[in-house]
Amino acid sequence: MSTLQNKRILLGITGSIAAYKSAELCRLLIKAGAEVRVVLTESARMFITPMTMQALSGNRVHTELLDVEAEAGMGHIALARWADLIVVAPASANFLARLLHGEADDLLTTLCLARRSELALAPAMNQAMWSNSSTRQNVERLSQMAVHIWGPGNGEQACGDEGVGRMLEPEELLGLCAAQFESGLLAGKTVTITAGPTREAIDPVRYISNHSSGKMGYALAEAAVEAGAKVTLISGPVSIPVPQRLHCVQVESAQQMLQACREHPADIFIGVAAVADYRPEQAAAQKIKKDADYMEIRLVRNPDILASIATGASRPFCVGFAAETENLEANALHKLEHKNLDMIVANDASATFGSDEASATVYWAGGNQVLEPHSKAGLTREIIRLIAERLKSA
Ligand code: C5P
Repeated sequence: MSTLQNKRILLGITGSIAAYKSAELCRLLIKAGAEVRVVLTESARMFITPMTMQALSGNRVHTELLDVEAEAGMGHIALARWADLIVVAPASANFLARLLHGEADDLLTTLCLARRSELALAPAMNQAMWSNSSTRQNVERLSQMAVHIWGPGNGEQACGDEGVGRMLEPEELLGLCAAQFESGLLAGKTVTITAGPTREAIDPVRYISNHSSGKMGYALAEAAVEAGAKVTLISGPVSIPVPQRLHCVQVESAQQMLQACREHPADIFIGVAAVADYRPEQAAAQKIKKDADYMEIRLVRNPDILASIATGASRPFCVGFAAETENLEANALHKLEHKNLDMIVANDASATFGSDEASATVYWAGGNQVLEPHSKAGLTREIIRLIAERLKSA
């Protein structure tokens, strides 16, 4: 279930006896690599304790909307933004009704209103409550509002009734969570992505490099895999784990990176790497001694990897990144044109390097789209969606 790796799941639990199954769902999500934060409504706490969910999720459980201490840690809007997916399991009849009417009188309903992510509900209630026309109408209208309704299942109920109303089993919910991150948007496409910094050797023990963490490139590679693409990730030296289900080529210098890119042609090329613009003209064969008071290193320009791929004979769909500290739009549009790109993702360098959150504006010839602050995983899914859209209309 690697699509859940590093995904941020906000697990909302409302008042239903099925809440005990949510403990197992939380455990399975964690096991699949997701990061889980749990929100308990007041009535959920009658069925399962914050202590249980805190121990399983490894995070403080969120219960109150108006809690000064909690807001000082991760406020409700930050928590809503944090999530890549909100799953409310179990979702009671009362919660469905409150959600439908846009009520924001507790933490969970407020988070759902402020969400930027997909929202899925796993209803659980007595079969008569489920088949009641009020519930039927509420569910119908929630579905029309693009809220996912998962289940309920059919069978024996805690109250002794038989029928439709049981919350889906934790394993089924886990599979549905994982499927949320599989879009198929790039099915059948090959994608080559560069990521991380490059290292330009001065001598055998020293180098010139930069602060790029590789997080954005790696997140984009994962998003492309989830979209069904066959991905080659060409990475400079970083300290984050290689995502599963892709081919990773580790390189050090810009010249090695360019060589690897040429060896891995693809339908889509995405340059995320913070390639060193210059390298020492000559790397010393032996460690340089500190005898002299001054030392000069003559630097020569490195090849522009993205531009050279984008101007090649059978060029792929080319996407660049512009991390800027000023004149974001002008610089991004200049690079779009001068590097012969199909699309460029512009972001504020000072806010992006090494951070887990990111926002960006994506430009292409004749259009642009602002992507609001989100986790890098959430943002990269949006970028992949835009790439797939532009590719279709190209
Ligand atoms: O010109 P600048 O470095 O700002 O351009 C950034 C974009 O170009 C990024 O997509 C980066 O990966 C790519 N690039 C490259 N090779 C270089 C320099 C930048 O592929 N030598």
